[in-house]
Amino acid sequence: MKHCIDVCDLSKENLISLIELAEKIMDKPKDYAEYCKGRQLATLFYEPSTRTRLSFTSAMYALGGSVLGFSDEQSTSVSKGETVADTTRIISSYADMIVMRHYKEGSAMAAAQYASVPVINAGDGSHAHPTQTLTDLLTIHKELGRLDQLTIGLCGDLKYGRTVHSLIKAMSDFEGIHFVLIAHEILGLPEYMLQDLEANPQLSYSVASSLEDVMGELDVLYMTRVQRERFDDMTVYERCRGCFILTPEIMRSAKEKMIVLHPLPRLDEIAYELDDDPRAAYFRQARNGKFIRMSLICQLLDAWDEENTTNKEPFSLCEILDGREISGLKYPLCPNERCITATEVLPYLTKVQAGEILCAYCETNL
Ligand code: CP
Repeated sequence: MKHCIDVCDLSKENLISLIELAEKIMDKPKDYAEYCKGRQLATLFYEPSTRTRLSFTSAMYALGGSVLGFSDEQSTSVSKGETVADTTRIISSYADMIVMRHYKEGSAMAAAQYASVPVINAGDGSHAHPTQTLTDLLTIHKELGRLDQLTIGLCGDLKYGRTVHSLIKAMSDFEGIHFVLIAHEILGLPEYMLQDLEANPQLSYSVASSLEDVMGELDVLYMTRVQRERFDDMTVYERCRGCFILTPEIMRSAKEKMIVLHPLPRLDEIAYELDDDPRAAYFRQARNGKFIRMSLICQLLDAWDEENTTNKEPFSLCEILDGREISGLKYPLCPNERCITATEVLPYLTKVQAGEILCAYCETNL
């Protein structure tokens, strides 16, 4: 594990080890208070964040390290047109680890190619948000005592919801997982995610058009916000928002032992009256985020130190890649306008999944 770009980079053993360490840190935080003494974490946030940026910051301080970075690209040379590639090269010489959130899909993958320190993806456009998924897994494990034999309702924005995409990928390593997809038809899962689900014999899914119909089946209800910032056309946003709202009335048919998760922030998709329901686990989930990020920082730095890795080999980032460079390529071939390759000239990298060739940055089918 050199970087944490997507949950696919983490094996089931990695996931379990991260959760176990997070639980140890939660039990005895003082034992880890100097684990990262003298180390620096850079937080590069090109997009707004409360939980991810501040929980990483809190995590690094709790490990005895320090933090530098930005939360507004306008205050940096990015506003003058500096690329992710160049920014990453520079920051690598100031910090021991980079955490990046960016509105372009595949941006963390691009950063990892130019960084000489570990890179953590803190959210890249609509693509992935692996540390939110680690937070979700830790929460499910703590609350329900298991990560298999679960029926998980995914509700809200399944199209642009990167936390949903990462959660589905992570659960593909566990047994007996059934997803119930509950979304407006405009916000259904992307085709490549449906293909992933169908290709995996461990996973099954069904589609529902109302929360009421399925509430009683669920062990986990994963609510998400309809993200205004992902829409180009506000009339489409208005058609989709407010379709699924979890209320105390709907919760009446839920199991006694189930949990409601939400990566937050929420708008109106969960009624405030539900916050006192013991099954409403979303604030506990946000708290867990700090501890799983402490665990990830420790394990990535340890792995990096152990391998004494430097990122000099241009295409050696990730075993899953079928990397190829097209000589003289000026413009990348990915058709996704939201992909980082649409604005930066980067090595042409592909990955093969279920027989399809995908852009390795944003996973769009090429
Ligand atoms: N869950 C999450 O990513 O929250 P922030 O956008 O506040 O970081």
